[in-house]
Amino acid sequence: MESGTALAPLQEFVYIARLEARSSQPSHQSYSLPEPSDLSISYCVESMEIVLVLCVAAIAVALALLPKLFKRSPFRHIRGPPSPSWLYGHMIMTSREKDVGDLHFQYMQEYGSAWRMKECFNKDTLWLVDPKAIQYVLQTSGYHYSRTVVGRHIARQITGDGILYVEGDDHARVRKIMNPAFSAAQLRSFLPLFRRSARRLTIKWKDSLRTASAPADHVLNVNSWFTRTTLDVIGEAAYDFRCGALEEEDNEVVDAYKNMFRDSVMYPSGATLVFRSLWPYIPERLIRLTGYLPTREARRFRRTLSVVNKISNRLIKEKTQTCLDRKDENLRDIMSILVKANHSENPKTRMKDKEMISQMATFFLAGHETTASMLTWMTWELAKDQDYQEKMRQEIAAVRAKVSERGDDDFTVADLDSMTFVIAGLKEALRLHPIVYMMVRSAERDDAIPLSRPIRDEKGNVISEIPVSKGTSINLSLCGYNRLPEVWGADAQVWNPYRWMDTNREKHINVGVYGNLLTFSGGVKACIGWRFTVIELQAIVVELLENFEVAIPDDKPDIQRVPGGLMIPMIRGKPELGSQMPLKVTAVVRPEKAEV
Ligand code: HEM
Ligand SMILES: *[C@@H]1O[C@H](CO)[C@@H](O)[C@H](O)[C@H]1NC(C)=O
Ligand SMILES: *[C@@H]1O[C@H](CO)[C@@H](O)[C@H](O)[C@H]1NC(C)=O
Repeated sequence: MESGTALAPLQEFVYIARLEARSSQPSHQSYSLPEPSDLSISYCVESMEIVLVLCVAAIAVALALLPKLFKRSPFRHIRGPPSPSWLYGHMIMTSREKDVGDLHFQYMQEYGSAWRMKECFNKDTLWLVDPKAIQYVLQTSGYHYSRTVVGRHIARQITGDGILYVEGDDHARVRKIMNPAFSAAQLRSFLPLFRRSARRLTIKWKDSLRTASAPADHVLNVNSWFTRTTLDVIGEAAYDFRCGALEEEDNEVVDAYKNMFRDSVMYPSGATLVFRSLWPYIPERLIRLTGYLPTREARRFRRTLSVVNKISNRLIKEKTQTCLDRKDENLRDIMSILVKANHSENPKTRMKDKEMISQMATFFLAGHETTASMLTWMTWELAKDQDYQEKMRQEIAAVRAKVSERGDDDFTVADLDSMTFVIAGLKEALRLHPIVYMMVRSAERDDAIPLSRPIRDEKGNVISEIPVSKGTSINLSLCGYNRLPEVWGADAQVWNPYRWMDTNREKHINVGVYGNLLTFSGGVKACIGWRFTVIELQAIVVELLENFEVAIPDDKPDIQRVPGGLMIPMIRGKPELGSQMPLKVTAVVRPEKAEV
């Protein structure tokens, strides 16, 4: 009987939970990187009691749900890697990949563009990199594939009931209210602001070089500088808020976000994974309570959110009157739009107080960490490819000369868009280093997902459509799609910005919003800030390359793409240092200016 076979895994679970409780240390966490199979290593700081209470609750719910969990999935004959554990499936393995994407790339090669994996309790989950399938899930049938309960509730702990949490009509309403803040015209008006922040970063780096003992070998953790820059940008662009992240060494907002993902969702314990896998079967109201539990992630998120919400509340108090006074000017910055929505009479365009605060937290988070990581990975690639870096610099200098000739002080968006090498470099960095490297969707109904390339199942049948049942979770590998040889060519695994200049490139199925990449996702819930990001990246990269050269430091640190909710850059084996990207930074000597 099924209950008999279920007993062994349950014992395994209790045993592991006990091991974890014993090895957890309240005051400091151990970060040594585990082998994927090493289940006993824990990153939990919860006390033993909490783990045990959770275990008991989890076991009770699991027993009640056994029949549901044993439902056979319609795609059980799709090929996929064997599961290492009945209880954990591949969950531990995938959340502890050595470098983000390694497993994705391996399975793509082995199984093609779709394969089957296991979640906790042996539940089937479908992994997809196929362009047509992804287009179907995100666009064609976008509102029938929702964000998962787990994903939404983790987002809720970080931001509140914001756009990353709400679904269906609520999502459509918020998206419609926010859209005007991200129109092309509105975003163009931000360019001077992006340029000012970029210049402040230049001044900081120049100061740092001036006081360095050996300016020729000056190494900076560029990641932390980019985080500060992008925080200043989103604060000012969205809320007219001077965050002071670049100016102040000890900044409240910087501190609130610092290493948040490492300290919360990176390397979840087995108990956490099992606990989360039960959320879809628990009433919404009860799941909300998880945010109040003293677990590692909930505690860390509460700390960040309390700082951010305090600031948002203060900003709303300060700015509401001004926004209302200037209502007739039809301002379209995020703050004005939020205030207007709160005061709207029409329920279709209205936003409640609490929702406003949640959107603000969403933009604070979504608007800075991602862009900063992108700058980080891009400068890393340029540090490795000095030739290309120099090509970009020359192109920028040529456009700069044109701008001066015209009598202008600075680049326009059209000038930035004319820089072919810069844009190709940017797109290539976005392709190889998607910060959100994977997304999960949950099927809202029984359905069949079409494939662009048929696959063979375990029985040798050719399959061009994969049947899924309601509630199935579907893992979209954004990093896998971004490296599909069918779409990007045989050299899809390596840095080659020239691929973007090939005018004969084949047209492929349309999936993503920028360069047909999946980095900003696609369809009805694609990144609302993608155009904002692209202009911001252009503004900052251009400023940096005009002023600095970046290179790999002499000790050649081994950079790891750590899976931690987002993809986090770290020095291999040194997670205690947090996000790291040490690069050698030297000043560019421009001949005309050097004489002055
Ligand atoms: C390199 C930078 C960025 C990357 C790689 C990125 C990536 C993404 C991805 C993959 C999603 C979809 C997430 C999901 O469906 O679960 C998303 C959603 C979102 N992003 Fe971005 N993003 C970036 C920058 C920004 C910026 C600068 C902003 C705001 C100014 C922003 C605001 C949002 C919002 C509000 C959503 C939710 C959209 C919705 O649910 O309709 N992002 N982003
Ligand atoms: C599916 O993706 C989510 C989000 O990245 C991840 O937590 C989960 O482990 C994946 N599922 C499997 C079976 O690996
Ligand atoms: C939002 O709207 C509600 C209801 O009209 C009002 O009570 C509240 O003060 C508004 N909040 C802000 C920050 O303006």
